[in-house]
Amino acid sequence: MEKILDLITHKMQQAFADAGYDPAFGRVTVSNRPDLCEYQCNGALSAAKQYKCAPIQIAKAVTEKLDPADYSLVEAVMPGFINLKLSDRFLCSYLEQMRTAEDFGVEKIGAGQTIVVDYGGPNVAKPLHIGHLRSAIIGESLKRLYAFLGYRAIGDIHLGDWGLQMGLIITELQERQPQLCYFDPGFTGPYPVEPPFTLSQLEEIYPAASARKKEDPDFADRAHAATFELQQGRPGYRAIWKHIMDLSVADMTKIYNSLDVHFESWLGESDADPYIPPMLEDMKAKGLTVVSDGALVMPVAEETDKKEVPPCILLKSDGSAIYATTDLATMVQRMRDFHPDKMLYLTDKRQALHFEQVFRAARKAGIVKPETQLEHVGFGTMNGKDGKPFKTREGGVMRLEQLLADMTAFVRAKVVENQIVEPEEVDATTAKIALAALKYGDLSNQPTKDYIFDMDRFAAFEGNTGPYILYTIVRIKSILSKYGAWEHLPIREPVNGCGKDLMLSITKFSPTLEAAWKTSSPNLICAYIYELAGFVNKFYHETPILKEENPETKAGHIALIGLAKDVLETCIHLLGFSAPEKM
Ligand code: ARG
Repeated sequence: MEKILDLITHKMQQAFADAGYDPAFGRVTVSNRPDLCEYQCNGALSAAKQYKCAPIQIAKAVTEKLDPADYSLVEAVMPGFINLKLSDRFLCSYLEQMRTAEDFGVEKIGAGQTIVVDYGGPNVAKPLHIGHLRSAIIGESLKRLYAFLGYRAIGDIHLGDWGLQMGLIITELQERQPQLCYFDPGFTGPYPVEPPFTLSQLEEIYPAASARKKEDPDFADRAHAATFELQQGRPGYRAIWKHIMDLSVADMTKIYNSLDVHFESWLGESDADPYIPPMLEDMKAKGLTVVSDGALVMPVAEETDKKEVPPCILLKSDGSAIYATTDLATMVQRMRDFHPDKMLYLTDKRQALHFEQVFRAARKAGIVKPETQLEHVGFGTMNGKDGKPFKTREGGVMRLEQLLADMTAFVRAKVVENQIVEPEEVDATTAKIALAALKYGDLSNQPTKDYIFDMDRFAAFEGNTGPYILYTIVRIKSILSKYGAWEHLPIREPVNGCGKDLMLSITKFSPTLEAAWKTSSPNLICAYIYELAGFVNKFYHETPILKEENPETKAGHIALIGLAKDVLETCIHLLGFSAPEKM
């Protein structure tokens, strides 16, 4: 379905042409003077220069060519603006088309295209922290948006499962339990099915090893060697690795499920490993690499660089692969298995240079096609009220589960205190509200910006918050359920200004999604639903809905708020949360 602004623009262009002027001047915009009109066209002002006449003369001639049935106001005003208000009939028929079209008539821009969204990025055996939270929240939302716009969207968690943390755990375990078969070079297997540690032991082993690495250079060396041997495929180490993976992935799945974040692909850095040697051979053969201080690197600087872009390191001097190497090899794997038209990465913005280097290296080496799009969305930090990165009360790194638990407890108290739902529904309702508070609190900020985590504000039922949006949806649902079957009711012409404002707001659905998609900005969807919810609530306050006596008028009100609810629910789905039945 054509976006309403495009539709009006095309009509205006036709009017310019019919009046004898270049249709290119007929661009319509949303009015910047909503007190005067809804839409405007300033094309007569530019056209006047070309046609060497007074702009108002052109504006008048053009307005005469517009179909009066489409507008309740068509006005040429000095010096040559064209002001428009849509007719009730036009707006009603547009909304009725939206209501009956699939997905409100949004254009499936991505049809036939595939995108891999690389988000989450947790590190196995290390606790999930706030940085991973933002990646999960923003990534899930963008992935859902791409999918809604018709892409085949593959979310890939890209587990950090191949780094030094694995060598550290192996080495620490060997210190503690040297007798385990995993460390016996003569052991021929099979290795035990049960891991030699529990998840909580594992969660203690890693920080202990990590602390020891800093104090004990010999331990650090052994951990590096163990990492290298693991990557070379030493069977006992691979068996420990497998145990760590199983425990850690099961735990992560639980956490991501509670965040309503779901990955289509659970590959990790380790899965890229087999692609590394042939990839490096190819890069060498193409003459793209040089050896610098014993390391294998690919220069990626360009003449136009304003800041220095250092070479991309492929192998360290000890022969081990690093972060960039696995990212490049992962691209090889993705191109082979998924054939993506685009790859989108979500990490903290401090990784911007890493991705710049990797993207350049991938293009130089021909790992991706020239037309394959590569985008890194670097997000800002979530800060505490003191403006510093969010910490626990004790000053430690805040773990994701803790944050979620705190938010849940906070919301739960409100749900219980206000007796919002029956006791047996408290948990489910709380979970939905808490998730909305957390996600909306994050997503309503432009991703690149830092923001302050403020539980009171995020969980408030009023103001620009997730719970307010849920509350609006729940309120409409309750009216609809009192009315009865409403899904088949057609949209009718608005009966008052509030109704018209609400209708105009609904027409902004697809342009909003497109803008959010183009700029990787879920915050635009938040701003939109905040506005839309405001119009719904205003309409609700100023229009008797269930009390309306004329059954047709009443049906029209119901159809309108029903459509608003469907749009709101679709938007929150794209943000990654959902509404409860009662609130
Ligand atoms: N594991 C990484 C980290 O914790 C994030 C991975 C992001 N994705 C990627 N393809 N590099 O920082």
